Amino acid sequence: MLVFVIYLPLGAGRTETGLDEGKYYALRTCPGGFLFAGIKNGRRGCFDARAGRPVKKERAKMQKPSIAIIGAGKVGSALAILLQREGYEVAAVASRTAASAEALAARLNCPALDSRDAAARAGLVFITTPDREIAPVSAQIAAGGGFKPGQIVAHTSGAHAAGELRGVREAGALALSIHPLQSFAELRAAMENLPGSYFALEGDEAAMPVARQVVDDLKGKCFTISAADKPLYHAAACIASNYLVSLMHFATFLYAGFGLGPREAFDALYPLVRGTVANISKVGPTAALTGPVARGDGNTIAGHIRAFKQLDPELRELYGRLGRYTVRVAREKGSITEEQGRELINIFREVDDNE
Ligand SMILES: NC(=O)c1ccc[n+]([C@@H]2O[C@H](COP(=O)([O-])OP(=O)(O)OC[C@H]3O[C@@H](n4cnc5c(N)ncnc54)[C@H](OP(=O)(O)O)[C@@H]3O)[C@@H](O)[C@H]2O)c1
Repeated sequence: MLVFVIYLPLGAGRTETGLDEGKYYALRTCPGGFLFAGIKNGRRGCFDARAGRPVKKERAKMQKPSIAIIGAGKVGSALAILLQREGYEVAAVASRTAASAEALAARLNCPALDSRDAAARAGLVFITTPDREIAPVSAQIAAGGGFKPGQIVAHTSGAHAAGELRGVREAGALALSIHPLQSFAELRAAMENLPGSYFALEGDEAAMPVARQVVDDLKGKCFTISAADKPLYHAAACIASNYLVSLMHFATFLYAGFGLGPREAFDALYPLVRGTVANISKVGPTAALTGPVARGDGNTIAGHIRAFKQLDPELRELYGRLGRYTVRVAREKGSITEEQGRELINIFREVDDNE
């Protein structure tokens, strides 16, 4: 089912931003005409176009568009399965290999088609290929006439903006990036982790009500960001997720040096990680800092650095760089003086000086 999301600014006092005073979004037809979302006389809500009165929230729920998944990997599969459970019709799936497309299609009881035909059948098209494939895949679908006015096309990349969807706007369709701020290492865990996750939305304003509805149906929360902010937004997500994995890899490797197997090393460190994450969650990343940097124990750190000298210099360098950043956190926490901070930086710098 295709949902027309038509951006219709009405009346006096309209502004240039999102759902601000005087801006209305046509969500769907209703017995009184179109149902509009917006802010009227300072009240945010949904309004019957003719009566101009707020309507009940249930009526504000738009009809769910049919969806197509192009890229039957972890993210595409999780979105398709969860959205189908929420009442979205999955019109078709496509993928690079027939095996992936057919496996997901069998699970969803829908057809596996080529990318162009799958996209042409849906009101909302998700391109969930690897990032490098988003532009060529959407350009190819556009060239085949698979996009049309009224359709919404979304990718799920954190790094790229909606403009990566080549040929979508030219075909009169709307372009979005809907990035789930969650790690999809494995399908089942990803589906369990998704509720409560945040999604970053970016792209055509007129498609935002549909994007918000999708996030709502996935039991997520969302915020909007600009195209220009996407690279640093994504870098931060990489730090919080991927580099945490790398730090655990680094720490378990050091434990292996005195005879623990990788599993035992991880089991020994994991309660510490869990406790630290719980502390961060309670008091935030500045107040949660403990350890020798937070206490200003320069001798302890000098001992660490001496021990690192037997190892790969890259590991020493990494330890030093992270240590110097940690001095910044300790200064912000106020647990060390400026002078102590300078001394600690000098101890960490020795790592680089002794290269
Ligand atoms: N993984 C995460 O944690 C995560 C989190 C948030 C956002 N994302 C984003 O979500 C998107 C998908 O990531 P993912 O982790 O789901 O990747 P993935 O598991 O590697 O899946 C990508 C899928 O795209 C298919 N594909 C590759 N080239 C294609 C083409 N030319 N045409 C059609 N399908 C093609 C692959 O098909 P075959 O199986 O047939 O080879 C594969 O099934 C990326 O933009 C990524 O940045 C990922």
